Amino acid sequence: MAEFTLPQNSKIGKGKHFPAPAGAKNVRSFKVYRWNPDDGKNPSVDTYDVDLDSCGPMVLDALIKIKNEIDPTLTFRRSCREGICGSCAMNIDGTNTLACTKAIDECGKKDVPIYPLPHMPVIKDLVPDLTHFYAQYASIRPWMRTQSAAPASGERLQSPEDRKKLDGLYECILCACCSTSCPSYWWNGDRYLGPAILLQAYRWIIDSRDEDTGARLDDLEDPFKLYRCHTIMNCARTCPKGLNPAKAIAEIKKLMLVRRGA
Ligand code: SF4
Ligand code: SF4
Ligand code: FES
Repeated sequence: MAEFTLPQNSKIGKGKHFPAPAGAKNVRSFKVYRWNPDDGKNPSVDTYDVDLDSCGPMVLDALIKIKNEIDPTLTFRRSCREGICGSCAMNIDGTNTLACTKAIDECGKKDVPIYPLPHMPVIKDLVPDLTHFYAQYASIRPWMRTQSAAPASGERLQSPEDRKKLDGLYECILCACCSTSCPSYWWNGDRYLGPAILLQAYRWIIDSRDEDTGARLDDLEDPFKLYRCHTIMNCARTCPKGLNPAKAIAEIKKLMLVRRGA
């Protein structure tokens, strides 16, 4: 799996240590990135010793226990706790993943490091600012665009074969784990759309019911939006849903070549 270092250009302070309660026998430490925009201090890494005998099995369970019982100031996003909403994406044990589907037992490091998604502005603690990521998503106009009149039945049907082409694409939960693991996105994220958004773009390009394929490809015909992918493959390695954004990007590039008659 891809590994990531500490956020760059940050002087990381030592942080506080919250020991486990006396008598706890099954203790695991979590080293959690902390930053509060309101206190004027540098980021720090706080250490929380958690009694696993009174904690659920997932990293999200540990974070919720820390927040509920040890330190209510710890801030992170979560909602569904079953790998569907994408909001608990963070860098755990060196890999971008979902806290709710990452088992504590699967973490190899003795003290489990937990950081926000890399190379994104941080709002607070483990919460990245995804404003730009969502604006890029909106830019591909992620909805079905049609020109023909709607059928009398009201439904635009799709054959089972055409529906199958969406497998491996529709499952994307827009967690941003892939884009924030992509070195090209780190350095050119202002203009390069990155693997998540390009996988979503391909999801609409390949949808047999969509009637705006040409315009969608035109929109991506740009030296930065699409062509900054250098097939480094971090995206496919890190996707917690087992998807392959690099393959979707390669398929878009192939369609571009076909269009040019190459
Ligand atoms: S492709 Fe995977 S890692 Fe990327 S946003 Fe979608 S679900 Fe998350
Ligand atoms: S394959 Fe492309 S999109 Fe995926 S990590 Fe590499 S450069 Fe980024
Ligand atoms: S809480 Fe929804 S994906 Fe983890």
